[in-house]
Amino acid sequence: MKTSFILSAIAALAAKASAACWSTSLGYPCCNGNHIVYTDKDGNWGLENNNWCGIVGTVSNAACWSEALGYPCCTAANPMVWYTDNDGEWGVENNNWCGIATGGSPAPVTPSPSTGGGGGGDVTIGSQYSHSGNPFKGHKFFLNPYYVDEVEKAVQQISDSSLKAKAAKMAEYSNAIWLDTIKNMETWLERNLKEALAQQNSEGGTVLTVFVVYDLPGRDCHALASNGELLANDGDMERYKSEYIDVIEGHLKKYISQPIVLVIEPDSLANLVTNLENTPACADSEKYYLDAHAYLIKKFGVLKHVAMYLDIGHAFWLGWDDNRAGAAKVYSKVINSGSPGEVRGFVSNVANYTPWEDPELSRGPDTEWNPCPDEKRYLEAMAKDFKTAGIKNVYFVDDTSRNGKKTDRTHPGEWCNQTGVGVGARPAANPISGMDYLDAFYWVKPLGESDGTSDESAKRYDGYCGHATAMKPAPEAGQWFQKHFEQGVENANPPL
Ligand code: BGC
Repeated sequence: MKTSFILSAIAALAAKASAACWSTSLGYPCCNGNHIVYTDKDGNWGLENNNWCGIVGTVSNAACWSEALGYPCCTAANPMVWYTDNDGEWGVENNNWCGIATGGSPAPVTPSPSTGGGGGGDVTIGSQYSHSGNPFKGHKFFLNPYYVDEVEKAVQQISDSSLKAKAAKMAEYSNAIWLDTIKNMETWLERNLKEALAQQNSEGGTVLTVFVVYDLPGRDCHALASNGELLANDGDMERYKSEYIDVIEGHLKKYISQPIVLVIEPDSLANLVTNLENTPACADSEKYYLDAHAYLIKKFGVLKHVAMYLDIGHAFWLGWDDNRAGAAKVYSKVINSGSPGEVRGFVSNVANYTPWEDPELSRGPDTEWNPCPDEKRYLEAMAKDFKTAGIKNVYFVDDTSRNGKKTDRTHPGEWCNQTGVGVGARPAANPISGMDYLDAFYWVKPLGESDGTSDESAKRYDGYCGHATAMKPAPEAGQWFQKHFEQGVENANPPL
């Protein structure tokens, strides 16, 4: 009797401990603190040491689960279900999404896009939005809540009051949301689309959200720092299609009443222009990069509210005459392969540091005879070349999140966590008069998120992240790098 009591007490304790520390079974540690960043059906999630962790002892509150996601709970006795996702059932009250408490709620209905007229002011997934002209123009830019959270935490670590104030301003600017793993896509895509829609409906006007599609098989084939979860093989290509692109497509097809921009697979096609012969990993990846682009352009390129920009590296990658000529061939082939889907244009300088203008530089030994030694001259040249090659839509976005100041680099191709970094021009549509093909300056790479680890023993260590002008010690790509953030803020040009 006594023994069995003790045994069941131990079992009960074990069960309690595992309930309290539920996330380890999902492969994530438990949090030490209790700051909730995200909630899903598993429970409340925090971010500690740049990693997801489960908040101990707080499995999601079944009754009123949506508050943790920043939405009120519905108050109506029997609210209509407008929409169902992994979090639960959603209703609409006071022009805002609300979570329907579990237990006794009505059966889910499929959300039906309203046809516009007679909507009675309710928040619905409204009528089809269609881009016309510059996809960045005429909208509010959505603020990425994950980045705002990162900035708020970073600000708390700064003691200098002037730097603190400047750093806080970083949370007021929009930047892109990277869908860099299947899990992050599942976590962030729909949640942000839903928030942007709620903002659009409550404030009026249109709210633009920018996502980075970034999970190619064999990703980052010429470098190591950002190698991804999918490898260059047929099985992983299938996963990319069915678990990643198709799922994104499903969400995009649902949220049709808001403008969306997609930045497509940074550092992929540029590698096909310059690195097939010298880098076996790029040769192995080529067919997957091509297949993936054809697949996603066909799917996303027919959606009227979605505009896509293909990544073109930056001035010190494809700027040389022969590289630009090679690029014109590769990009026109890729765009044709995605027909009837269309792309709006090209994005340059993603996660790079090349200044917009650098009048000190010209073609010569210092630039290794690159005739396009800054982003402005690069886009001017690319615009001509791409049009000559018969590409129909030739428009550009330039990533200015970290190119405000010429960084300390021994070679212009240095790309990892550069010292001397400074925030560049703020996100804006049509920022340069006379360059009507420049759709926007936008912050694609979030300042403060590392480019790659400086730990030589790490699997994704890339020598560039150990170079003399790379700031060290640096965490893994994508993880928070406080010192780099602070320097970028301090050196902002224009100042914050
Ligand atoms: C990393 C991604 C990250 C992105 C934004 C890339 O270099 O590989 O994991 O999401 O940067 O910081």
